[in-house]
Amino acid sequence: MTLSLDFFRSSIGKKIIMAITGFIWFGFVIAHMLGNLQVFQGPEKLNAYAKFLKDLGPLLWVARIGLLVAFFGHVIVAILLKKENSAARPVAYAKQSTIQASKASLTMIYSGLLLLTFLVYHLLHFTLGVTNPDHYSYEYILKNGDVVHDVYAMVILGFQQLPISIAYVVFMFFLALHFSHALGSMFQSLGILAPKHNPIIQKIATGLAVIVFVGNSSMPISILLGWVK
Ligand code: HEM
Repeated sequence: MTLSLDFFRSSIGKKIIMAITGFIWFGFVIAHMLGNLQVFQGPEKLNAYAKFLKDLGPLLWVARIGLLVAFFGHVIVAILLKKENSAARPVAYAKQSTIQASKASLTMIYSGLLLLTFLVYHLLHFTLGVTNPDHYSYEYILKNGDVVHDVYAMVILGFQQLPISIAYVVFMFFLALHFSHALGSMFQSLGILAPKHNPIIQKIATGLAVIVFVGNSSMPISILLGWVK
């Protein structure tokens, strides 16, 4: 018990928690994106996939609760770390390199806050159908006769609206920025790899962030341009 509390109180313990909770969300974002990309294969594919997820029942709830815990864990520990850093450094840095580092962590706070806004909006839009209730009411009959919620129609009707699509692409940019910095700095702050590997790690992190940005933005952009109807 004392050991676990000590772990949580230590700075490295907090960074490990940030890394684990961040990875859970990174994994979810990649899996969610791959699932959503089925929009390019038409309504049958995407709606059958959405039904498959809903049919997971209790397992879906385990995943949802896991994501929620990881999310709040990530945010709370981020605030604790920020407080710790400010307390350790009451006077601003004088050296350029450390100014750069604190700029990057400020970016993390702002991009993180924007992602929180995105998530609330996204859940109201697609999961709860609050922002566009008219898009939420459609049903679709699968080839096997099952009547399901028409997630495909909801996505198409949502992204056919310019402000919604622009908002998604902007949010995806900040998501990519957040990931790219987080993945890059995680290996450094945890000291997992020798500093000589930093440039290659940062390149891989940027590459993954670009994949997330392009993959997720391809949906609103293609729908807005009328390529997917
Ligand atoms: C263009 C990009 C995206 C599209 C098209 C999209 C689409 C969707 C749709 C259609 C749903 C509702 C599924 C249903 O009710 O059957 C959903 C749920 C959700 N999305 Fe996204 N999403 C995108 C990006 C993201 C990102 C980047 C995140 C996280 C940072 C995210 C997090 C979630 C969460 C947490 C849920 C709720 C899952 C649940 O209800 O269990 N989404 N998304």
